[in-house]
Amino acid sequence: MLNAHSKYGKLQFKEVIQPAIDLAENGFPVTRRQAAELNSNRKSFIERNSFRPAFVKDSLWKEGDFLIQSALAETLKRIRDYGRDGFYSGKTARLMIREMKRGNGIVSEQDLKEYRSVSRVPLTADYKGYKIITVPPPSSGGIILIQLLTMIDPYPFREWGFNSSQTIHLMVEAERRAFADRSEYLGDPGFVKMPVDQLVSRKYLLNRMSTFDEKRASPSQEIKPGFPEGYTSEETTHYSVVDAGGNAVAATTTLNNTFGNSIVVDSAGFLLNNQMDDFSIKPGFPNMYGLVGGEANSVQPGKRMLSSMTPSIVEKEGKLLLVLGSPGGSTIPTTVFQVIINVLDFGMNIRQAVDAGRFHHQWSPDWISYEKNAVDTVTSNKLRYMGHILKERTSIGSVNAIMILSGGKKAGGADKRGNNSSCGY
Ligand code: DON
Repeated sequence: MLNAHSKYGKLQFKEVIQPAIDLAENGFPVTRRQAAELNSNRKSFIERNSFRPAFVKDSLWKEGDFLIQSALAETLKRIRDYGRDGFYSGKTARLMIREMKRGNGIVSEQDLKEYRSVSRVPLTADYKGYKIITVPPPSSGGIILIQLLTMIDPYPFREWGFNSSQTIHLMVEAERRAFADRSEYLGDPGFVKMPVDQLVSRKYLLNRMSTFDEKRASPSQEIKPGFPEGYTSEETTHYSVVDAGGNAVAATTTLNNTFGNSIVVDSAGFLLNNQMDDFSIKPGFPNMYGLVGGEANSVQPGKRMLSSMTPSIVEKEGKLLLVLGSPGGSTIPTTVFQVIINVLDFGMNIRQAVDAGRFHHQWSPDWISYEKNAVDTVTSNKLRYMGHILKERTSIGSVNAIMILSGGKKAGGADKRGNNSSCGY
């Protein structure tokens, strides 16, 4: 945030951070959903912390109760006053290391001192004349999104219709293949050489779909990671912002689980993440999202784990059209994929595109998970007939999107599935 601010910010950093300090210091009324999430994590907060964090109060939380986070306010003030040193060294760092020692964690003072954020060049691709601008590794999200859009492009799915069995079958078969590639090739670019250009090349992806059968699901066992040419083996939150000058930000941040590992740094007021789960701990062993991986995403000192976050921007003829992203672990790239084609191919407005029912396939496990309203009985029977396994699940993703309408007006697409909202200033 500090680096982005120093490169692009117009206001003083102390002005930008003040609303967060105020919210932490004075509190804010929790929503019904937040109250329920806090209550369902109450046991972990009590068990995993040696003090009582702000997330626990004597009675259970109800909608409208104020969540005050005084220790976090002090941490934010240290960041306001000392910038990066307010977090990575000094008091906050000492508190974090003390917390690490208490929990037998391995992060050292040296690790904090040496940590650097990295600015990377986004991935871009053309989809039917629209420019897709999305996240590069160490997230897998952008590569998967581009692979999916390119793989479905040659098929007349607009005619097949939104969420018809044929359209879902096509999208799922593309998803199966993209996630198989993810498991083999993707990881931290600082550690693994990845065939990114080849993985997103049209030629490779057309070939990848050469085994697509319009009438039959290909079992994941038969779908192996592809062979890109020239390659030798060797609580997530998303927000979208557009300012008056047309500058756009698509930002996804994650603690992995809601409330991370539930451990709050004593006296510093912030949660520790459990993002280590995004590494592959051994080949073929699924993480909490059921994702499998191999060497490319193995655990190594200083290496970043492979994410699925997919903050993305879509332009039409050099003009901003969409800003979007979502939480949802492995379902993030497929959620972003669906919202994009809902707008570009199925002609939905942003509200409809975000609210429309979703489904997801990630190669392994070999089934389509879907939201109840996404697939009707006739469609699910047709998909089963083709050989797909279907499993209904709770909601998928929670998008915050902005669409620029002709004439320049901005429309917000805040997902009904989460604590989301759109606003203009
Ligand atoms: O980086 C990732 O892909 C995951 N840690 C994201 C986790 C997530 O979206 C959880 N929210 N539902």
